[in-house]
Amino acid sequence: MNIVLIGFMGSGKSTLGIKLSYRMKQPYLDTDKYIERKTGRTITEIFETDGESAFRQMETDALSALLEEGIKDHVIATGGGMPVKLENHELLKRLGVVVWLRIRPETVIERLSSDKNRPLLQREDRETVIRQLMDERNEAYAKCADVIVDVDDKKVERIMDEVFTKSAGVRKRKKRMRYE
Ligand code: S3P
Repeated sequence: MNIVLIGFMGSGKSTLGIKLSYRMKQPYLDTDKYIERKTGRTITEIFETDGESAFRQMETDALSALLEEGIKDHVIATGGGMPVKLENHELLKRLGVVVWLRIRPETVIERLSSDKNRPLLQREDRETVIRQLMDERNEAYAKCADVIVDVDDKKVERIMDEVFTKSAGVRKRKKRMRYE
């Protein structure tokens, strides 16, 4: 079964996802990279030319395509805004065990203070944007999540252990539900 990582920008979805994929011997997939490959453009270019709502639609299309392809036993990292669209919740849940890497705004502010790659953060008031966006999104993350792992002040290995252990039970339950 797929492990699907959700969470705010800077929560470590990619770093953790890649390490987890080695540990679990499951291939790694990143929905941002998937979209970039499909469109031949970077996320920044997509935001600049088509705007955020077009990108959100591409995210939904990516989830649908992955489900249609029947992708399984992967570790999938998603963009931080993926759970914002309500229709993505069901798609995410169907895709696998959804793990929310929960992070405090202070940690994100520290980690992404000099980020140049996230279109939503290329502003003077980056700190305010981070706090606002997180406020708006936390409910959506909580609704999507099968498992929650807090990442602040923890080493990657510890986070990985928690993801692994906490998702094992859900994995079994979700598998059973599919065959019932
Ligand atoms: C976004 C997060 C980014 C990327 C895009 C929008 C967001 O992914 O999808 O810049 O809305 O939070 P990461 O969470 O991997 O940075």
